[in-house]
Amino acid sequence: MRVLVLHGPNLNLLGTREPHLYGTTTLAEIDAELAERGRRAGAAVESYQSNVEGELVTRVQKARGTADGIVINPAAYTHTSVALRDALEAVALPAIEVHLTNLHRREPFRRESLTAPACVGTIMGFGARSYTLALEALLGILGKPA
Ligand code: DQA
Repeated sequence: MRVLVLHGPNLNLLGTREPHLYGTTTLAEIDAELAERGRRAGAAVESYQSNVEGELVTRVQKARGTADGIVINPAAYTHTSVALRDALEAVALPAIEVHLTNLHRREPFRRESLTAPACVGTIMGFGARSYTLALEALLGILGKPA
């Protein structure tokens, strides 16, 4: 069982980026936690972060044949990227969208997600825990409950 975790722009700054919104957990800590939880459930979890839309699109495309499911926080591309949505639709792998913050409690422009309709579901608002909840949900879908 292989899970791809994708992080969009500015998430490399987690830990120091607007900690009042995003918390103080770093991306490396999130990735380590996901890898460990995956390992315990018998799943290999690979994480990738990029600030570049096309690189994320390419990584989604490569997931076909190399991953069984995707956990994705598209970050700002959530609200803008038709390309990322199309890539998720194209590979047709089960994907869970993740946000650290509850987008419905933030600025109106964050309420629309272009990528969410290409995902099985969305988990938002639980800080770093949103990721572990998303992994749990994905492993459940893939028949490997955490
Ligand atoms: C985010 C929410 C997005 O609106 C924002 O652009 C991000 C992070 C979140 O995890 O809460 O970069 O995806």
